[in-house]
Amino acid sequence: MNRAFFPVVTSFFVAVLALSSVAYAADAPKAGPAKADPAKGEALYTNGDAARNITACVSCHGAAGASTISTNPKLGGQHAAYIHKQLTNFQGADRNNPIMSPLAKLLTDDEMKNIAAYLDAQAAKPGAARNKDTLDLGKKIYRGGIAEKSVPACAGCHSPNGAGIPAQFPRIGGQHQDYTVAELTNFRSGVRKNGPMMTTIAKDMSDDEIKAVADYIAGLK
Ligand code: HEC
Ligand code: HEC
Repeated sequence: MNRAFFPVVTSFFVAVLALSSVAYAADAPKAGPAKADPAKGEALYTNGDAARNITACVSCHGAAGASTISTNPKLGGQHAAYIHKQLTNFQGADRNNPIMSPLAKLLTDDEMKNIAAYLDAQAAKPGAARNKDTLDLGKKIYRGGIAEKSVPACAGCHSPNGAGIPAQFPRIGGQHQDYTVAELTNFRSGVRKNGPMMTTIAKDMSDDEIKAVADYIAGLK
């Protein structure tokens, strides 16, 4: 081969390499796993996939995640990272539920991310408190905790209006009281093991305190 050709070819490749690493650096924040596709998430949420035994989520969690059944959580407006975490936890032993665990095991990671992105983009459906008699107690616990039991204020993490903080603390405001009571009870008993902070917080709460705070939370917006 012509010796004079080498340096030319080499410097050409060096130049291309240098250029492509600049391009890569510029793209770096967007690199990594494929971006979630909310349209695909909506299709699976709404229609399920009969061939794979995936029940349509909408049948229990309602249109756009606005569940009207008090034991099925509202999912609209919930943070994508939290939804993805829960579906992953249902696949393992940390969150066991006879309905959701078998169903979550049928979903791929991409499908969970797509559904999570779809639900995150939906409006959160407001709820309402039902029990005037416990509203003051519920509000006190939510905003100030229970000092004598070292229960911290819920507002500190879930924010004063219950909207939570994306990627850290779930939205709980407006949620059905029956569902919230069930989850606090599950954290307390250890049935739900995927939120160690919540296990510590719920462990000394009485049934009445749980009911009161859950009812107050249902009316938060
Ligand atoms: C037959 C009814 C039913 C169907 C169908 C169903 N779910 Fe659920 N889902 C529930 C119930 C009940 C719970 C509460 C489980 C618990 O207490 O741990 C739940 C909980 C969840 C949670 C946890 C919410 C939270 O706030 O922590 C997510 C996320 C979820 N479902 C997503 C889905 C998705 C996605 C689908 C469709 C692939 C689906 N669900 C289909 C009944 C259902
Ligand atoms: C130190 C922060 C912190 C405080 C304070 C806190 N939480 Fe939480 N909470 C969390 C985290 C983190 C999760 C998510 C756990 C997981 O990943 O499953 C959570 C989850 C929950 C859930 C489950 C939501 C769902 O959709 O299933 C409920 C209900 C809840 N918290 C209620 C409360 C109440 C009521 C209080 C006050 C008595 C409270 N939390 C105080 C951090 C906190």
